[in-house]
Amino acid sequence: MTDISDAVVADWVTLDDLVADPYPVFERLRRETPVAWIPFLNRYFVSRFADCFFVETHNELFIPQTNSLVRESIGVSMISKGDPEHARERSAIAAAVKARTVNEVWQPVFQANADRFVAELKQHGPGVDLDSQFAVPFSAANLGALLGLINSDWADISRWSKQFIAGSGNLAGDPAVWLSNGRANDEVNDAIDELVPYYRAHPDASMLSSLLSAPVDLPIDVIRANMKLAISGGFNEPEHVITSGLWALDTHAETRARVRADETLFAALFTEIIRWRSPINLLNREAAVDIDIDGVHIAAGSLVGLLIGSANRDERQYDHPEAFDISRKRRPHLGFGVGIHLCAGSWAAKVEVAGVAWPTLYRELPGLHIVEPETIPFSGFAFRGLPVVPIAWNS
Ligand code: HEM
Repeated sequence: MTDISDAVVADWVTLDDLVADPYPVFERLRRETPVAWIPFLNRYFVSRFADCFFVETHNELFIPQTNSLVRESIGVSMISKGDPEHARERSAIAAAVKARTVNEVWQPVFQANADRFVAELKQHGPGVDLDSQFAVPFSAANLGALLGLINSDWADISRWSKQFIAGSGNLAGDPAVWLSNGRANDEVNDAIDELVPYYRAHPDASMLSSLLSAPVDLPIDVIRANMKLAISGGFNEPEHVITSGLWALDTHAETRARVRADETLFAALFTEIIRWRSPINLLNREAAVDIDIDGVHIAAGSLVGLLIGSANRDERQYDHPEAFDISRKRRPHLGFGVGIHLCAGSWAAKVEVAGVAWPTLYRELPGLHIVEPETIPFSGFAFRGLPVVPIAWNS
């Protein structure tokens, strides 16, 4: 790595501050040092919308991290590849996540899961935690069904997802994390191996079935890695958007009244939550060549962290970016990424959250509200959401 100019070193950025409240940190970075060297993470942070967009859409200049923990955690999936290999694998899952399949096949499954877990909420009664008792099982059960993991239950999916994410973020090299990550890998491999003969004989709309019937035969380790990518990438974000959406309404009474009067506004709420309280704040890339961004020289091989949660609040892109406003003028956001790695599950996520979870919760639990929403802290940096969300309703 070549010299890093003192002017771009942002040694005031700490993980504690990012976890406590990333938005003041993001705002200062965008204003003072839009391309900043972050010593404790050994990488640059890029915080403005236009720069994040540029990096994500120039795959010849910025590639997936070559020595990434993600590869160690789940194997080499499409997220760790460029085209044409990436495109081949991406097209192999397309049938399972395209809008028509989601609407016709998965939406009824999502609804059945919502009905099941809302019934369990009612049994618990007011005071129950919406996150652990609804958002977690609902998102995990939906994902398991879409992936075709019919031999596993929602608790397996959520546990595996957490263990894969923990491995991907195991910068400290904690051996206990690798141990449980290895166990999750073994269990998912076993679950897939058991299902391969079944789906060869009974192809269906699921992701595993799509991967197995791709026009170009994919090696089993590629199939496994892409299933693990979806397990780690398709669970905690819907979970967090469900609870963040309720929290946003309960802290904005006027918007809450509008949405309660018109359920079509759940779609706008979904888009605004992904922008305003992005469930993913950070994407990682590696510079493939020496390049300048915003006048800062980045040497080939340097790691570059794209702060998409900051890009989504860039004052150059949005009026009043700090405001929660479901009627804001439509401008693209980066909450699902952009370019070749744009989220493959965005439509499934929108249908399960805005089309199923929110309408079902409000319909089935009259007077639904979060208990003291102002006191509940968000947590996490790369992935961020509300860990505990006590709710009440008129029972
Ligand atoms: C609100 C929910 C979700 C959010 C905010 C989200 C966000 C993202 C983002 C930002 C990326 C780009 C990563 C990068 O460029 O490095 C991504 C990729 C991906 N997501 Fe999602 N995601 C969500 C739900 C889902 C679901 C439900 C699934 C599976 C059904 C899924 C599957 C994937 C896959 C397979 C990729 C990799 C795409 C590729 O490399 O071409 N996501 N997601």
